[in-house]
Order: sequence, then C-alpha cells, then structure tokens
Amino acid sequence: MDGNGRWAKKRGMPRTFGHKAGAEAMRKILRECREIGIRYVTCYAFSTENWKRPKSEVDVLMRLFDEYLDEAHERFDKSRLIFLGDKSPFSESLREKMIRLENETAHIDGFIIFLAMNYGGRDELVRAAKKLAQRAAAGEISPEDIDEAAIERELYTYPAPDCDLIIRTSGEQRLSNFLMWQGAYSELYFTDTLWPDFDTKALHAALEEYSKRQRRFGAV
Ligand code: FPP
Repeated sequence: MDGNGRWAKKRGMPRTFGHKAGAEAMRKILRECREIGIRYVTCYAFSTENWKRPKSEVDVLMRLFDEYLDEAHERFDKSRLIFLGDKSPFSESLREKMIRLENETAHIDGFIIFLAMNYGGRDELVRAAKKLAQRAAAGEISPEDIDEAAIERELYTYPAPDCDLIIRTSGEQRLSNFLMWQGAYSELYFTDTLWPDFDTKALHAALEEYSKRQRRFGAV
C-alpha cells in the first residue's frame, strides 16, 4: 500500500493525512475483495523496517491501527483477521486488540485478511528456521525432516496457499521484503497509482491483467 506520503504531499498536506486516506482505501478494497469471492488478502501495513520512520509518523500510524482495529469487528464481521509479524514491539493495548480480534474471528472460514504489521519476509524465515532448529535440538524432528512443507508449517500464513498476485502501487518496482516464501511464484503487478487512489476500478484492472497471465511454475 505504497504512496500515501506522496499522495498527501501533492495536496500540500502532512504524510499522516495520506495514511488516513490509505486506511480508507484499504477498507474499500477489502470489502470489494470479499464481495467478488477472493479468499485471502494480505495487506502490508507496517514492515519491520518502518520503525525507522520519524517517531511522529510511527505514532500516527499506531493510532490509526488502534482506531482501525476498534472498528474492525463491526466492519469486517464476516472476515477472519490474522496478523503477520511479531506483535511484541506494539503497545500492550494494541497487542491485546490484535489477539482478541484473531480469537474472535478464528471460526470464520470464508474470507481471510492477513494484516502484515511489523512483518518482514526474511524475519518470518528466520523465525521458521529457529523453530525448526529448536525442535531438532529437542529431538522432536531430525534435520532430514526439514523440507519445504516443514518450513511452510512455521510461516505466519500457514495453512494458506501461496500468494497468486502481488499488487504494488505508486510506481515502485520491488518486493521490499514482502512474502518472500509465499511470493516465490506470485504474479507481480505494478501500477503508478498512489495507494489512496487505488479504488475498486483499479483493483479490477489488476485482476483483469492477472487473468491474462500464463502461470507455468517453472514448467513449460
Ligand atoms: C506506504 O506509503 C504505507 C505505509 C508504510 C503504511 C500503510 C498504512 C496504511 C495504508 C494505513 C492503514 C492500515 C491499517 C492497518 C489501518 P508511504 O508512507 O511509504 O508513502 P510514500 O512512499 O509516498 O512516502
């Protein structure tokens, strides 16, 4: 969801104004995804690197997350929410809200929203490696048992399938540590549209483009 800051700057407003507009865009896109029958959506809301931003901006983002989670239950009553990333650096109140929402929506099977917050694809793989090493050290598994399926079981997204399509807005053409494992064969879609302007029409344009792609997964 890239380009919030530039969207605000173009309007002579502070970057945080862009994040608020970005949150609104996210609501609309998630609603549309659910309505058209997409099963899983992952939103990259805050990366492990985003803590390096000025404290004032991080504070506003944390407040936005807090407000968003407060209303998430009523707005997304038919969605399951799962957070990707280590929750420990967040405030106690935010952490409690995240855990409560995960628990309260755990029974929902239709539409699953992964909210990546303090998420990094490399960090996720380091965490998986550590878990497997601990289990090997405890004698629960042997190193030979470590295969792709074993790593997948330790990912935040397990048991969801690999990601089909990654959309990045604002003209940047890189993955920036997003779904490093699950995105190995994802189709990539880059658009110059800044995230707050990414509306349902833009989503459908991305899906239309995706539907034309030939996915070969290394085969011919
Ligand atoms: C990237 O744009 C955006 C972010 C780091 C934050 C994304 C957050 C939201 C969309 C807020 C809503 C999310 C939730 C979960 C409520 P940027 O700031 O890097 O923009 P720039 O590239 O133009 O500077």
